[in-house]
Amino acid sequence: MSQYQIAVIVGSLRKDSLNRKLASSVVKLAPSEFSFKQVQISDLPLYNQDDDANQAESVKRLKNEIKGAQGLLFVTPEYNRSIPGVLKNAIDHASRPYGQSAWSGKPAGVLGTSPGATGTAMAQQHLRNVLVAIGVLTLGQPEAFIQAREGLFDEAGNIGEGSKKFLQNWMDQYVVWVKKHAA
Ligand SMILES: Cc1cc2nc3c(=O)[nH]c(=O)nc-3n(C[C@H](O)[C@H](O)[C@H](O)COP(=O)(O)O)c2cc1C
Repeated sequence: MSQYQIAVIVGSLRKDSLNRKLASSVVKLAPSEFSFKQVQISDLPLYNQDDDANQAESVKRLKNEIKGAQGLLFVTPEYNRSIPGVLKNAIDHASRPYGQSAWSGKPAGVLGTSPGATGTAMAQQHLRNVLVAIGVLTLGQPEAFIQAREGLFDEAGNIGEGSKKFLQNWMDQYVVWVKKHAA
């Protein structure tokens, strides 16, 4: 395959989200055969199983974007030692109706940043558990628990020098993983 379209799912709706910034800057470390699109999850209704037979347009859109992608990139904050509800809501929506999940078999990477020293480690671990349940093939190593400190991003919105080597290695391994598992 010569082109890889990656659906990026950011677990924060906040305007100045550090995780959205991370998502936007880390993709600049990918090769040109990879293109990335942040999918919208802010307009999804709260998941209700009663609606499975009649999914909202925003849910159909999300599912089409996931289905059309060769890979996934989750970039999430940690809320109370887990993933934000908005992210779980999106995952649940696109996993249904039963037997018609958009996620199955997609290769994925998981990243996250927080001002705290644990750098979303617990949220990422919770997310990995969920991704196993929906058949997503998640890159195991390297892990990337990123503390959001001064200098993580430069003025131009790139990954700052202090984290560049580490995240370039992460991206290189992610690219290999997606190429290996993309359908
Ligand atoms: C409801 C809530 C719970 C939070 N819980 C945690 C937590 O468990 N661990 C952590 O490191 N930071 C926690 N934080 C702080 C977030 O890491 C911080 O707000 C971060 O900037 C959120 O990501 P964002 O900038 O992408 O929106 C929490 C923030 C909120 C709003």
